[in-house]
Amino acid sequence: ETRTVAVLVGSLRKDSASRKIAKAIADLAPANLKFDFVEIGDLPAYDPDLETADAPAAWTRFRGQVAKADAVLFVTPEYNRSFPGFLKNAIDVGSRPWGQAVWTEKPAAVVSTSMGALGGFGANHHLRQALSFFAMPILGQPEAYIGNTGALFDESGALTSEATADFLKTFGQAFAGFIARNTSDPAVARA
Ligand code: FNR
Repeated sequence: ETRTVAVLVGSLRKDSASRKIAKAIADLAPANLKFDFVEIGDLPAYDPDLETADAPAAWTRFRGQVAKADAVLFVTPEYNRSFPGFLKNAIDVGSRPWGQAVWTEKPAAVVSTSMGALGGFGANHHLRQALSFFAMPILGQPEAYIGNTGALFDESGALTSEATADFLKTFGQAFAGFIARNTSDPAVARA
């Protein structure tokens, strides 16, 4: 059955390795997964005082896009041993109004990236900590810490590392199985 995966990328720059990794996962994943890239760079900083009938349009757009997905894929670089602040803001925006979090119980996967060798371990686990509040089942294996991202792509942005392509394909298959085990039939779930 078709499942929609909302993709949140924790980098805003045009040439982002994280975005390329996210695209590669989408391209290599089983065909029943449909990936919807959800932009987060335009979300005003979360302020409970703006939670009115005129809440920022970008918040409403974002919440709607995540709410209709069956699962969420996070692909993020590490910023100062954690994940970037604007990604935390997106999580916060999606968590309110109280009782209406768009994240609740959606299966998720976390991929961290780095130009360095450590693969964004700190970002990966800080992000898991924030998500744990929403009772989201989070894919445990395989873990995905993608390091040395400067060496994985050609000039056109295509993945040149066969080992990474193999890994991302395996990762997508594992996530598809995990989503299937952790969601009911989408038609039933939405009824
Ligand atoms: C970084 N970078 C970085 N890398 C890392 O491995 N650990 C870290 O703590 C940080 N901290 C950090 C802070 C800030 C503000 C920036 C801008 C960068 C480097 C980071 O891995 C590199 O810029 C990646 O290429 C960013 O991912 P994208 O933009 O290519 O997806």
